[in-house]
Amino acid sequence: MKLTADQLRDKYLKFFASKGHAVISGASLIPENDPTVLFTTAGMHPLVPYLLGEPHPAGRRLTDVQKCVRTGDIDAVGDSCHLTFFEMLGNWSLGDYFKKEAITWSYEFLTRELGFSPDQLSVTVFEGEGHVPRDDESAAIWKSLGIPESRIYALPKEDNWWGPAGTTGPCGPDTEMFIDTGKPACGKICRPGCHCGKYIEIWNDVFMQYNKTADGSYEPLKQSNVDTGMGVERTICMMNGYATVYETELFAPLMAKIRELSTARPDSEEAAVRAERIIADHLRTSVFVLGDPKGGVKPGNVGANYVLRRLIRRSVRYAKLLGIGTGYTRTLAEIIIANYKHVYPELEKNAETVIAELVGEEERFEKTLHAGQKEFDKVADALKLHGQTTLSGRTAFKLYDTYGFPLEFTEELCLEQGLAVDRAGYEEAFKKHQETSKQGDATFKGGLADNTVTTTRLHTATHLLHRALQHVLGPHALQKGSNITPERLRFDFSHPEKMTPEQIQQVEDMVNEQIKRNLPVAVTTMTMEEAKAKGATALFAAKYGEQVKVYAMGEFSMEVCGGPHAATTGELGGFKIQKEESSSAGVRRIKAVILNVV
Ligand code: ALA
Repeated sequence: MKLTADQLRDKYLKFFASKGHAVISGASLIPENDPTVLFTTAGMHPLVPYLLGEPHPAGRRLTDVQKCVRTGDIDAVGDSCHLTFFEMLGNWSLGDYFKKEAITWSYEFLTRELGFSPDQLSVTVFEGEGHVPRDDESAAIWKSLGIPESRIYALPKEDNWWGPAGTTGPCGPDTEMFIDTGKPACGKICRPGCHCGKYIEIWNDVFMQYNKTADGSYEPLKQSNVDTGMGVERTICMMNGYATVYETELFAPLMAKIRELSTARPDSEEAAVRAERIIADHLRTSVFVLGDPKGGVKPGNVGANYVLRRLIRRSVRYAKLLGIGTGYTRTLAEIIIANYKHVYPELEKNAETVIAELVGEEERFEKTLHAGQKEFDKVADALKLHGQTTLSGRTAFKLYDTYGFPLEFTEELCLEQGLAVDRAGYEEAFKKHQETSKQGDATFKGGLADNTVTTTRLHTATHLLHRALQHVLGPHALQKGSNITPERLRFDFSHPEKMTPEQIQQVEDMVNEQIKRNLPVAVTTMTMEEAKAKGATALFAAKYGEQVKVYAMGEFSMEVCGGPHAATTGELGGFKIQKEESSSAGVRRIKAVILNVV
C-alpha cells in the first residue's frame, strides 16, 4: 500500500481513537523541567509523570504524534534510515491495558491498516536478565497472531530494554517490530537488530513496569504501562517500497534542491550521497529546533545550543564539499518549512527567526572554516610526517576557540586522516580557559576576584543539599535545575508537594552536620560507567567510555560534576534555607545561603 506521512499520521490516530484512546497534542522539542536530556527524544518523554502514576487529564489511554531529536545516532546519519529528527507515533496505556492488547493492536494496525504482509514481519522480545524473566508472554501472543517462532527472536537487554529517557525514570522490556526489506542477508548473524539494512525497525512496544532510580536500581512501578513508538519516516519508506527515507515526500524536494545547488562532486559517489543526506538531515533538525514553539535554543556553546551549532556547522562543511554556495541554508529552510507547515504551523510562524539564525550561523562559520581547515591541514601533515597519530588537546581547543570547530567536528576530520584526538587534553585546555575567563569576569566586575570562592562554596553546598533532600524526602528528590549567584544558591528538585517545616529543618540540619564534620572534597576521574557502578549521581548523559569527574564528600555525597568545589565542607561555615516554594508542576525550589561569604 502506498501512503503519505499525512495519511499515516491520520490513520494511526484514528485507529487508536477507535480503541478508546484520547488523541493528545505532541509536546515541545525542548523538554520542560528535565535537565538530564537536551531534547525530547520519545513520545513517552513528556508523559513521564503519568507513567509514574499521576492521573492524566485525558484518561488512561492516549495517542499522539511527537517530534523527537536524537543526536546519539548522528554518526549513523547518511545511511538509509538514521535521522537526528523524526516523528514518532505513539499509543499509551497508563496502568490500563497491557501486553495482549498492545501487541494485538500493533499486529492489526500493521497488517490490516497498513497492509504489510505478515511474512514481512519479524519481532524481538526480551530474553531476560537478573530478576526480570524472559518475556515468554509476548512471544506467545505473537505466535497466537500467526508469527512463526522462527521469526520471534529473544534478545538481550541492550536490544530489548527501553528507557529511561534520561538517567532516571520509567523503563522496561520491549518487543520490537521489523520489516524485512528483502535484501540478501549480510552473512554475519543477520537478524533483527543487525545493522546491515536488511531488517528495519519501525515500531516498539515497551512494557514499562520499572522506575530506574538515581542509585541505578530498578524499582517496580505502581502501575504496568504500555509505551509504544512508531517512526513515521521509516514506516512510509517501507510502505512505499523505497530504499531510503530520503526518497519519501518528506525529503524528496529537499534532496532535489541540494543536487541542483551542488557544483562539485567528491571522488566517491558514496561520499557525495552521504554528504547530501547529512546536509538534509541536519538542516531539517535545525529548522525544527529553531522553529519550536517553546523557542529559546539558538546556536551557542553549551547544551542544546551547542548541539544546534554542531548540526548547522556540520551541514555547512558538507555543503562546501559539494560546492554549494553561501546562503543555501535559507533556500533549504524555505523548502523544509513549506513541506511541513500544514502539520507544524509554528515553522511558518517562526520562519523569519529560523532563517535569520541559520544564515547567521552559516556566515559566522564560513568566515573561519577556510582558515581553520588550513590550520588543521598544517597540523595533520606535520603529525603524519613525524609518524604521530594523536592531535593534541591544545590544538583541538585552538580549533574550537579560534575557528569555531566543535570538538566532534575536529574528531571527524581526524578520523578521515587516520588520527585520534586527545579528548582529555581538550577538556583540560577548555577548563583552564573557563577558569581564566571566570577570573577575568570577576575582576571586570570590580576586583571581586574572591567572588569565585563564594560561588565555589555555594556549589559544594548544592551537592550537600541534593543528597540531604534525597535522605529526607526520598530518592525521587532529584536535581531539576541549579543557579548560583555570589549571594545565594537556588536549587530546583522533583517533589510533588510543599515541604513541611520539619522536613526543611531536617535537611538544613543534615547539611550543617556535614559542614561541621569538615569532610574533604575529593575529586577522581573515571569513565561514566565506573562512576555509575560506584553509585555516583549523574545528571547528564555521557558517551560510552567518556571520562568524567566525580566529586565525593566523605561517604555522604558522590556526584559526577565539572566542579570546581571547596576543598573541605568546613569552608562553608554554615548553611541556611531561606525559602522553599513551587517552581513548576512537580518541581520545588529552595533558595539558601552559606555563612562564609568572602
Ligand atoms: N519509547 C519507546 C521508543 O522510543 C517506544 O522506542
